[in-house]
Amino acid sequence: MKVLALNGSPRKTWNTATLLQKALDGAASQGAKTELIHLYDLNFKGCRSCFGCKTKGGESYGRCAVKDDLTPLLKQVAETDALFLGSPIYLGTVSGEMKSFLERLVFPYLTYTDPPASLCPKKIRTGLIYTMGVPEHMIEQVGYTRYFQQNEFFVSIILGACESLFCYDTYQFDDYSKVVADRFDVSKKAARRREVFPLDCQKAFDMGARFAKASASQPSISASATRQA
Ligand SMILES: Cc1cc2nc3c(=O)[nH]c(=O)nc-3n(C[C@H](O)[C@H](O)[C@H](O)COP(=O)(O)O)c2cc1C
Repeated sequence: MKVLALNGSPRKTWNTATLLQKALDGAASQGAKTELIHLYDLNFKGCRSCFGCKTKGGESYGRCAVKDDLTPLLKQVAETDALFLGSPIYLGTVSGEMKSFLERLVFPYLTYTDPPASLCPKKIRTGLIYTMGVPEHMIEQVGYTRYFQQNEFFVSIILGACESLFCYDTYQFDDYSKVVADRFDVSKKAARRREVFPLDCQKAFDMGARFAKASASQPSISASATRQA
């Protein structure tokens, strides 16, 4: 059983990466082979609108035609049993790198049919992990709820069962005294980091263990088999 996690933060040891590693630790506790890949290590761009993935009889139909560092990663994703996509929220959306990755993952598999269907060769249980500066009570007000639902909608059409994990009000700097960030109450931030972040880590671990257990008891089936059923 293979479980893959992709980090959409440029920081390799901070909030997002930590939660992704916890999810992988949970999966590993159930015997999964795990790997964490940092998107910022790779050289790639978002969809170029070439429509190679939509061209009738084309050699790239249902696959991304662009050749760059994402080419082997997209293949690896198609072969994994469970997937975790983690990103910080940057200006109200996932990071640019994660957005570019999602365009390249989702769009080639998404058919322009009514209703839309998936060309993904199999179902991949997916967890979306978001970390963000805003506190939980503000996410409706800043419009994030709808955005999160939209991502779940696209990912679930393409890959199958999908759920999200949210980590709010994150600790952002090594040393708050060195940055201009008067808006934040440093002692409250530190307390949250100490008391709530470990609970978020536990949730990520449990999610990883649950996904691995479910994948082991119900191995991924091909999308075409699902459609026929
Ligand atoms: C460029 C940038 C933009 C950000 N924009 C937002 C935002 O719109 N909303 C928010 O809640 N947090 C925002 N943040 C805070 C990060 O989402 C938050 O600190 C996150 O946990 C960082 O993840 P990391 O520690 O894994 O790098 C932003 C941070 C940066 C660097």
